[in-house]
Amino acid sequence: MTSNQQDRPRPLASETVDALARSAYPTGNVVRRALLTLRDEGLRSFGFKLLGLLGYRRLLLLERALDQPIADAKPSLPVAVAMLAHDEVDDYLVFRPGSTRREIASRLRSGDMCFVARHQGRIVAAAWVAVQPVWVPYIGCRIDVAPDEAHIYDKFTLPAYRGHGIANAVRTHHLRHLQRAGLRRATGAVLPENASSLRDDGKGGFRAYGIIGRIRLGPWQRVFIMPPPRGRR
Ligand SMILES: CC(C)(COP(=O)(O)OP(=O)(O)OC[C@H]1O[C@@H](n2cnc3c(N)ncnc32)[C@H](O)[C@@H]1OP(=O)(O)O)[C@@H](O)C(=O)NCCC(=O)NCCS
Repeated sequence: MTSNQQDRPRPLASETVDALARSAYPTGNVVRRALLTLRDEGLRSFGFKLLGLLGYRRLLLLERALDQPIADAKPSLPVAVAMLAHDEVDDYLVFRPGSTRREIASRLRSGDMCFVARHQGRIVAAAWVAVQPVWVPYIGCRIDVAPDEAHIYDKFTLPAYRGHGIANAVRTHHLRHLQRAGLRRATGAVLPENASSLRDDGKGGFRAYGIIGRIRLGPWQRVFIMPPPRGRR
């Protein structure tokens, strides 16, 4: 399912993992971040982040069968969801100013799809769907995507619009698109500490099927996959 850093297909998923890390890792200097993590997430999460600094990282792997019904989403703010067109990249860059035109154009050129939710015409949430292998720089490996599968990455809702169920509306739209295309399974990867994302994934019927991790010591790296912890299955 995965391979190490040498056979890197495309540097696409950097934002995905950056977003994952950003949402669960507070900003500021190291001491402040450490204290915030300890205060907000407890000793266990603090310990894993410390291990991360020492070269240990892991993501929860999620899956959802596409032959299961996809419930209607009922966001509490009206949004219009659609696939991002090639000539709408400017709108996307306003939504995610940290992205570059080159990166977004490259994703679209390589066949990835972006589904966006607009509120009063402005993009307020999005998620990306890859139907080919995805490079995950956070771990330093590739996640393979089978021909009848899709991998969801870089899900993001503008902070001011969170908590309205908009990510679920985006997902309902793209899962139905994938279902119509005859795909069998959707997957994703998320930091186990990312409670908001996991809560949202749960609404979409995703469940953990494994953990992908890496241990790195200097130039040596080992990528591994193992079953999810009991409470996550
Ligand atoms: C994960 C994310 C996309 C969810 O988007 P959303 O549109 O807010 O989704 P929902 O409204 O369904 O909220 C999901 C959960 O987030 C939590 N939440 C609610 N308001 C929130 C806020 N203002 N800020 C953060 N989390 C919030 C709640 O637990 C909520 O579930 P609940 O309302 O059923 O209790 C969004 O939090 C986000 O963009 N996070 C940063 C990027 C990220 O982590 N992406 C995941 C990559 S895998």
